[in-house]
Order: sequence, then structure tokens, then C-alpha cells
Amino acid sequence: MENDEYNPAEDTFFIAEHIEKETGNSALDVGSGSGYLTKLLSKNFSLVVGTDINFPVLINQTYKTENIVCCNGADAINYQFDLIVCNLPYLATEEILDISTDGGLEGFEIPKKILDSVFDKITSSGKFIFVTSSLSNYQKLIDYAQKLGLHSKIKAKKKLFFEELILVESQKI
Ligand SMILES: C[S@@+](CC[C@H](N)C(=O)[O-])C[C@H]1O[C@@H](n2cnc3c(N)ncnc32)[C@H](O)[C@@H]1O
Repeated sequence: MENDEYNPAEDTFFIAEHIEKETGNSALDVGSGSGYLTKLLSKNFSLVVGTDINFPVLINQTYKTENIVCCNGADAINYQFDLIVCNLPYLATEEILDISTDGGLEGFEIPKKILDSVFDKITSSGKFIFVTSSLSNYQKLIDYAQKLGLHSKIKAKKKLFFEELILVESQKI
């Protein structure tokens, strides 16, 4: 894989706005990319871990963070977190050409893999907050989260020029 770090963008700042006041003991940033969100979480959580599937991106992070793991979702982690966040690769694409943005068919394939992976890494009172978009079948993802056992609500939306960003908060039922 190449070192094609995703530069913090509108979707990064959108989720950042909504997680900056969250507090707790432990937080996990899945798909940490530049480390922007991981670093932000470090202000309010004592244990913060970032994962990314792209190894060159992880080792060259712009915002260096202490605990980073290269894996799909949270597959390599055997721990439960109070908060898990993910700025998903949500674009609906036929193929995965750009791993930092492409979500596969309906923008569902990769987000589904991430959801499957994080589900049992959330504490019973914890939350999973993620960003998706009108450029994907986000309702399918919300319904899938619900089916897994995560009560999921759209907490915020933000209209951009060509899409609407959707912030979802999921909690164990
Ligand atoms: C939209 S970028 C977000 C980066 C950063 N969190 C931000 O908000 O600026 C998505 C990130 O997820 C990573 N990623 C893609 N598929 C993944 C997977 N299955 N497991 C973990 N990380 C993944 C990509 O390499 C990329 O860094």
C-alpha cells in the first residue's frame, strides 16, 4: 500500500466537532489516517488507540500518536473501549481503488466490515460514533448496526456542496 494519507477534511472536522467534548477512560479511533482525531481524543481519554489498515500511513502519521495498530477495523485488539470513532471510507464504488475513501458497493461493504469488527470492542455503556454520507446507502448501514445490536441514531447532518455528511451514534441495546 502507498503512503496516501487522508488529509483532514470537512468530514474529519465534522466528527471532531462532535467528539471533542466526549470523556471517558478509553477511546479507539478506527481508520486513524493522519492521527488528527486520535490526537484530539488524547485530551479527554487516558488510553487512546488508533488503527488503520494502511501501514505506511500509520508509520508516517502527521499527528503522531502513541498507540497505533495496523489491522482491519479493530480485529487485532482484544479490549473494550468507552468510545469508538470512525470517519468511514464511505464512498459508493464498484471497486476499492482508494482505500482511504472507497466504501465498495453502496458505500456499505467496507463500513460493514468495520462495524462487524468493532461491535464487541465497545463496553456495554459505550458508544460508536461514525461519519457517513448521502453518497452512500447510509440507511442500510444504520439498519445493519441495529441488527447487530446497536441502537443507532443520526445525531447531526451537514450539507456540503456535493453531499450531506451524516453523523451516527450507536450504543449497545
Ligand atoms: C476517510 S479516512 C479518515 C482518516 C482520519 N480518521 C480522518 O478523519 O481524517 C479513512 C481511513 O480509514 C482507513 N481504512 C480503510 N479501510 C479500513 C479498514 N478496513 N480498517 C481500518 N482502517 C481502514 C484508511 O486507510 C483511511 O486512513
